[in-house]
Amino acid sequence: MQPSFIKHARLDVLFSLAIVGSIATTTVMAQEPTATGNPARGAVLSSSCIGCHGISGYRNAYPTYRVPKLGGQHPDYIVIALQGYKNQMRPHKTMHSQAVSLSDQDMKDIAAFFASQGAIQKAAAPLGTAPEMASTCVVCHGEGGVSSVPNWPSLAGQHKDYIIHALKEYKGALRKDPVMGGMAAPLTAQDIEELATYFSSQPGLSTVHNAVSPKTASSK
Ligand code: HEC
Ligand code: HEC
Repeated sequence: MQPSFIKHARLDVLFSLAIVGSIATTTVMAQEPTATGNPARGAVLSSSCIGCHGISGYRNAYPTYRVPKLGGQHPDYIVIALQGYKNQMRPHKTMHSQAVSLSDQDMKDIAAFFASQGAIQKAAAPLGTAPEMASTCVVCHGEGGVSSVPNWPSLAGQHKDYIIHALKEYKGALRKDPVMGGMAAPLTAQDIEELATYFSSQPGLSTVHNAVSPKTASSK
């Protein structure tokens, strides 16, 4: 581990927290707080999503990595991620075509549906030994990767290969995020491997299987 990075990253964190804090405030002021999503309507809208996100370990092809788990993820973050695919701050083509026709309300309803399927599992204490560099990440992503800030994703239990893929995309500025771009830039391939191993091996997120039949849920 390089102490210079750690020191530098801590300064970055303070700086980023200030930026993120002001973005978060603007977002909260611009939108209603999340709890406004309709999970029954979201269940109907999510029926096409479950074909990938509802199958444990289902893989994206070229490059191959597992489709991210959404069960227990923060609803606010699900909306932010969908907006990222819609406006192409995230480069994934299939997710762009999934998100492009969704309205803000559709996204909130979908997020409310996933949230209604159960909370994140949280261990009494994180398992295993955290890589030194994880001390930077947990400032935002939470102890063991369970984030307590709705805008910041939980990483606990997320698929390892997806975490690696996401970090490489932030590092390569393919996924454009001012905060994570700065966080991922100094990480080596080995750092990424160690961090992904650590966060993915915590109890946490889960795969949601469609518990609500679209036929029985009301869609207003
Ligand atoms: C064909 C398979 C497929 C379908 C259908 C699909 N997704 Fe995805 N989804 C993916 C993959 C693969 C990713 C990871 C993309 C990337 O690398 O950024 C993803 C990423 C996401 C993310 C980001 C998760 C995170 O942790 O950042 C959200 C949220 C999401 N999808 C929601 C949805 C919703 C809602 C639908 C339905 C409207 C949907 N997806 C349909 C494959 C799919
Ligand atoms: C200042 C707060 C902050 C710090 C520190 C931080 N992150 Fe993030 N992280 C975020 C935000 C905000 C996002 C969502 C960005 C977006 O919308 O794509 C994110 C997204 C991610 C994602 C993608 C999650 C997903 O589901 O797609 C991974 C993986 C990740 N961070 C890992 C890390 C690691 C590893 C570190 C430590 C080296 C770290 N982060 C440090 C705020 C932070």
